[in-house]
Amino acid sequence: MKEQLEQIRARALAELAGGATAEQIENVRVRVLGRGGEITDIMRRMREVPEAERPAIGQLANQIKRDIEARIEGLADSHRLAALEKSLSEGSIDVTLPGVRIPRGRLHPVTQIMEQMLDIFVEMGFEIVFTRDIEDDFHNFAALNFPPDHPAREMQDSFFLSGGLLLRTHTSNGQIRVMEGRKPPLAVVCPGTCYRRDELSVRASPMFHQIEGFMVDRTGIVTMANLKGVLAEFARSFYGSEVAVRFRASYFPFTEPSIELDVSCVLCKGAGCRVCKHTGWTEIMGCGMIHPNVMRAVNYDPARYQGFAFGFGVERAALLKLQVDDMRLFFENDLRFLAQF
Ligand code: PHE
Repeated sequence: MKEQLEQIRARALAELAGGATAEQIENVRVRVLGRGGEITDIMRRMREVPEAERPAIGQLANQIKRDIEARIEGLADSHRLAALEKSLSEGSIDVTLPGVRIPRGRLHPVTQIMEQMLDIFVEMGFEIVFTRDIEDDFHNFAALNFPPDHPAREMQDSFFLSGGLLLRTHTSNGQIRVMEGRKPPLAVVCPGTCYRRDELSVRASPMFHQIEGFMVDRTGIVTMANLKGVLAEFARSFYGSEVAVRFRASYFPFTEPSIELDVSCVLCKGAGCRVCKHTGWTEIMGCGMIHPNVMRAVNYDPARYQGFAFGFGVERAALLKLQVDDMRLFFENDLRFLAQF
């Protein structure tokens, strides 16, 4: 029986040579170690072995079983390793190939410009308040001292909605919305979208953005000197410290006196060019001291409170700052244009 065992071992180990396939290995395992296999068969026939030899034969049988199991395990490991190497080499990745770039979005140039402007005002202590795009006549016109049928309304041709509502023609409604709910001191900027019945052109759009600002306090505290100081500081921070500013008399129903602020043309530096119509100056905003009738409309006593307000178009400023010559480019969403900023 000892010889039989040695034969079983020799044959099995020979079959489990290095090149054995998974199928061959499995066949050996079943034939030798399986339930009806050769080793089990020997164990069953242990009765035939003289009693004195049984322990030695039993030990040998177990030893052979362990040897063959170890061999099968070893082969299975190398099979797994080979399979792994194969799949790695087949699906290999060339890490030196250029990657697929995921296109990154960014803020629209008008939003970028708007944020730069708001940052300047926030640094000067202004707070930012968003109001509304759909307005009633009172907040867009009447409270701002535009009487019904007053010709000043013609300056802002409007989109009317049903129920007496309209799309706001300027951000000046922000003055009314904020002041009617609060008491001075106030230093507020109201950015937002405005709408006018204008044709889309190189210099105008029916939808555009403005930033409104105002500062109100007890009489004698916020004066025209503060208006000039704040707005000159804004112009220099935004357009560059070398720009010159000038204040020109103008007219708005809601300010008295009313002013327009010009900066020396940023393109020709005041020499005169097509953009500044050879004047050397570009108008950048309207402003002035808040009209007493506006104070009354929000239940402020005009003898007690005084302040200034200003408002300007963001796209106009962006055209100058980014040296773009056609406003329509901002709204066509052509990435070749937008991606430049
Ligand atoms: N609302 C004015 C406009 O749209 C601008 C402005 C605002 C002027 C505040 C003076 C004061 O033209």
